[in-house]
Amino acid sequence: MKQILVTGGTGYIGSHTVVELQKKGYDVVIVDDLSNSEKNVLDRIEKISGVKPHFEEFNLVDPLKTNQLFEKYPKIEAIIHFAAFKAVGESVQKPLAYYQNNLVSLINLLNAMKEYKVPHMVFSSSCTVYGQPEKLPVTENAPVQPAESPYGNTKQICEEILRDTAKAYPELNTIALRYFNPVGAHETALIGELPKGVPQNLVPFITQTAIGLRDQLSVFGDDYNTIDGSAVRDYIHVVDLAQAHIIAAERLLDANNEENFEFFNLGTGTGSSVLQVINAFEEANGIPVKYKIVDRREGDVEQIWADTTIANEVLGWKASKGLNEMMSSAWAWEKNIREGDC
Ligand code: UD1
Repeated sequence: MKQILVTGGTGYIGSHTVVELQKKGYDVVIVDDLSNSEKNVLDRIEKISGVKPHFEEFNLVDPLKTNQLFEKYPKIEAIIHFAAFKAVGESVQKPLAYYQNNLVSLINLLNAMKEYKVPHMVFSSSCTVYGQPEKLPVTENAPVQPAESPYGNTKQICEEILRDTAKAYPELNTIALRYFNPVGAHETALIGELPKGVPQNLVPFITQTAIGLRDQLSVFGDDYNTIDGSAVRDYIHVVDLAQAHIIAAERLLDANNEENFEFFNLGTGTGSSVLQVINAFEEANGIPVKYKIVDRREGDVEQIWADTTIANEVLGWKASKGLNEMMSSAWAWEKNIREGDC
C-alpha cells in the first residue's frame, strides 16, 4: 500500500482528497496545524472511509519537525501540499504572515524531499495567477499577471520556487494544480467547507444566509460586462477537484513523465455569474436567498473561466458534477453542521 502525505489534510479540499485517496487504497499521513480546521474532521473521514488516517499536528514552517516527520514515516512516496493560508483580504493586512507561512513551508518540504528522497509533489495553486486574462477561456499558456494580493503572490512565488527547483534537481517532480472556484461538499455531508467567522467566499455566504445565520447576501457589483452584470467564475465541485489530485499524484508516481514541472487548470470550462449561482442554489434546494446589490469588491476580476483541454487530454481528467450538485451538496453540508449530530 503506497503511502502519501497530505499537508492541510483536515482542511476543505484536503479532507476530500484524503477520502478519495483512501478509496483508491492509499495509506494517508496528514499534517495539519488545525489553524483553519477541526480535529474531528479525522473522525468524519473515518466515518466515510472506514479508515483513520495517520495524523501529525504541527506547522510545516518548522524545518526540524518537518524532517522528523519523514524520519517517522520513511515510506512516504509522494506529497500533496495543501497547507497554506488562503484568505485574500487577511493577506493584505498580514502580508508577512502569509509570505512566511506559505513560502517557508514549501521550502522546508522541498528540502526534506531532497534529503529523504521523496521525489513527488502535487501543489495547490490557483487561477488567481492569471489576474484578469485577456482571452477567455484561459489556457495554461496565458501570462501570469502581477498578483492583486499577497495571498495571490504567494501562489505565484511558490510556482516559481517549484520551477527553479525542478530545474536544479531533476530527481524532484512536481505538478501545480491551478484551481478555479471549488465549492460543494462530500455526498455524505460529513465533510465540507468550514469557514471561521464571516465567510468571504460566495457559496458559504449563500448557505449561511439560507439557513438564517446571515441577514442577506451582498452581491458585489452588477455593472460588469457580463451576461447579467455580476462577476463570472468557474465553479468546480470539490470532489471533482479532489479526484484530479489523485490522478496528478499517480502521474508522478508512474514516473514515465519527461517533464518534472507541470501545471494544469482545474475547472469545468463553464463560467457562471454570481446571480446565476444564487439562482442555481434556489432551484436546487427550493429555498430563496435574500440578497442586495452592493459596490464591486476591491481586487475582484470581472470574469474568468478555464480552458480545460490540457487537463482533459494530458491528465485524462474531466469535471463531472454540475452547478446543481454543487449547490445541493453545499446545502446538505450546511444543514448537517447546523442541525445535524456530526
Ligand atoms: C478568491 C481568490 C482565489 C482564492 C479564493 C479562495 C482572487 C481573484 N481569487 O476567489 O484565488 O483561491 O478566493 O479564498 O483573488 N461574491 C459576492 N458576495 C460575497 C462573496 C463573493 O458577490 O459575499 C462574489 C465575488 O465578488 C466573486 C464571486 O462571488 O465575483 C466569487 O467570490 P469568492 O467565492 O470570494 O471567490 P474568488 O474571489 O473568485
